[in-house]
Amino acid sequence: MKNRLQAIRAEFLDKLKQAQNLDNLREIELKYLSRKGELSEVMHNLKDLSLELKKELGELANNIKKELENSFEETKKIIGIKDDNKVFVDITLPGEKVDRGHLNPITVIQREMEDLFTSLGFIIADGPELESDYFNFTALNIPPLHPARDMQDTFYVDSKNSDGTLDLVMRTHTSPVQVRTMKKFGAPLKAVIPGRCFRNEATDARHEHTFYQFEGIMIDKNINFANLKSLLEIVGKKLFGPNTKLRMRPKFYPFVEPGNNGEYTCFLCEGKGCRVCKNTGWLEIVGAGLVHPDVLRAGGIDPEQYSGLAFGFGLTRLAMLKYGVNDVRAFNSGDLKFLEQI
Ligand code: DAH
Repeated sequence: MKNRLQAIRAEFLDKLKQAQNLDNLREIELKYLSRKGELSEVMHNLKDLSLELKKELGELANNIKKELENSFEETKKIIGIKDDNKVFVDITLPGEKVDRGHLNPITVIQREMEDLFTSLGFIIADGPELESDYFNFTALNIPPLHPARDMQDTFYVDSKNSDGTLDLVMRTHTSPVQVRTMKKFGAPLKAVIPGRCFRNEATDARHEHTFYQFEGIMIDKNINFANLKSLLEIVGKKLFGPNTKLRMRPKFYPFVEPGNNGEYTCFLCEGKGCRVCKNTGWLEIVGAGLVHPDVLRAGGIDPEQYSGLAFGFGLTRLAMLKYGVNDVRAFNSGDLKFLEQI
């Protein structure tokens, strides 16, 4: 039976080589590959063999069958092209469905924000995710050993300065790019910086080690708190609708003075109080303030001549609110059951 299989194989391949057109192919298919073809007949007879032989020959037969089917399809493609007026295409058949992807919700919101800010004359800047300790902390007025470092623990990479301190960190926020853009472009400056950030978090539904922020900085002569407030109001209306209100409450961030937390009226309950805003009517969305003089200096800008405003939105948080996602870990899970819903 082994010989018989090899003979069918050789004969088949030989005939296939000689095939000129689709009619020849159809004959070959019928003679060898069809349900009543020679190969099926041999395979059918396998059932009478001993268990051992059945296993051995069955495997051989299956391999040969696969090989022959593959060469057949190959040849069919080649002949089909040469002989294309004989290929029957049923144009009434429904087409093959192509799965369409879509943007990640964080990207959708990022682009919305980018559109708004570029329309206001801001540039979009970028910076490294693996950042130096200096830009991530020190240049932002968070010196080594300062307790403010505790607020943002991160992943330190094993590379040391000459004094032995660790030099590279996964950036904890997009704020280091403030100083980088100041150094690069000087003043006046209007820039936004979207990007991925990292923190050493005990992860749960509200905390994740990898998340996205959207930073902004505007530096010019006489930039003041009123400029900051009106800018954040524009963003709130764009994100959550024209009736959105903003309130700003003091909060300590080492790189701004005064620093504050921007909160918008909850878009779900319109300020009445609900589960999402924890019955306060307000959603904490953005950290902001007027750029600290030390930070301007670190960026090579003279604080006697210029002042600036800065803000940082949590893009991941915005996406959670907007799409009603109640577990932040879903964004990085790669779980299609989650991604396809959005
Ligand atoms: N970097 C801050 C954080 O990750 C957010 C922030 C607060 C950014 C105040 C700013 C700012 O630019 O002025 O929590």
